[in-house]
Amino acid sequence: MKGLVVCGGKGSRLRPLTYTGAKQLVPIANKPIVFYAIEQLVEAGIRDIAIIVSPETGDQVRRAAGDGSAFGARIDYIEQLKPGGIAQAVGMAREWMNGVPFVTFLGDNFLTHGIVPFVQTFDASDDDAAILLKHVSDATQFGVAQFEGERLVRVVEKPKEPPSDLAVIGIYLFTSRVFEAIDSIKPSARGELEITDTIQWLLDNGSKVRADVVDGEWIDTGKHDDLLAANRIVLEMLRDDRFGGTVDDASKLHGRVVLQPGCTIVNSVISGPVIIGERTRIENSYIGPFTSIDHDCEVVESEISGSMVLENTTIKHLGHRIEQSLIGRNVELAGDDRKPRGYQLVLGDFSRIRVP
Ligand code: G1P
Repeated sequence: MKGLVVCGGKGSRLRPLTYTGAKQLVPIANKPIVFYAIEQLVEAGIRDIAIIVSPETGDQVRRAAGDGSAFGARIDYIEQLKPGGIAQAVGMAREWMNGVPFVTFLGDNFLTHGIVPFVQTFDASDDDAAILLKHVSDATQFGVAQFEGERLVRVVEKPKEPPSDLAVIGIYLFTSRVFEAIDSIKPSARGELEITDTIQWLLDNGSKVRADVVDGEWIDTGKHDDLLAANRIVLEMLRDDRFGGTVDDASKLHGRVVLQPGCTIVNSVISGPVIIGERTRIENSYIGPFTSIDHDCEVVESEISGSMVLENTTIKHLGHRIEQSLIGRNVELAGDDRKPRGYQLVLGDFSRIRVP
């Protein structure tokens, strides 16, 4: 089988993080979200992968994932010039797939248990398509599956009144029959070719569509809270690895801590699960559970817990602990005890700050 990773979309719900970058490159535990998708395709034996990119963020994705050799895969890139829906993106890969069945993986979807059994079952079957499902508390945000007995009869996109609590995950297994479906459907009310309409067409036109509920966690990392949740899950799964960094005698590390190469911990307390990125310096500070500090950051005389800090950010001399926060790239955050006391801010559009 081949793989198709969809990395289009504007990531508007993740602003301001996505003003300067693709949402699929926002890191979870210091690794771009889309890398987890690529790794899980490779884990399922898929080595030929195409990534659908947009003109805006295509270069960044290309630079990050490269030719795929770092993953043991071959990666090609296909540009989707205008956003026209997931089904349109899939349709663009028709020639590249050349009749071979494939897994489509939305680049912002995150799964803890991978796709190996689903790929094996599909490969050995005569199914035309397979979808993956997960029970969720609010199905109005997703494609939703409806069953009659054991039989999948309907998939509907973001229904106001969901027919079940089974969300359709953004990972789909297709044969080339899907291209016939994409040619046959019409754009939805929001002007997109919907992947759910594509699957519905297959169901209505005699194709065999399998549906399985996944084990483990699934997160569509579309919103800020979802990112923090995915980060917590991955940090919990990481294995302790403190060999990459330098820790002075005055520092104390508890629990699961990953120190990436070249980081330095000076007179600080780190309470895992925590990951500290390459070349990052933590000095006279406390880093609390479920925090990832990405590469090339500096944290001095500050306390951070339950948070994600992206690359090249500086946090110094803060009077209060940072909690449950998402801090982007190249941010400077500094305490200041000059009088009169006041906030001095340069905040991007859509920034959200809560101060004590
Ligand atoms: C897309 C699909 C939806 C699916 C979801 C999974 O929605 O249209 O059917 O449930 O991905 O992540 P989007 O997140 O692009 O709005």
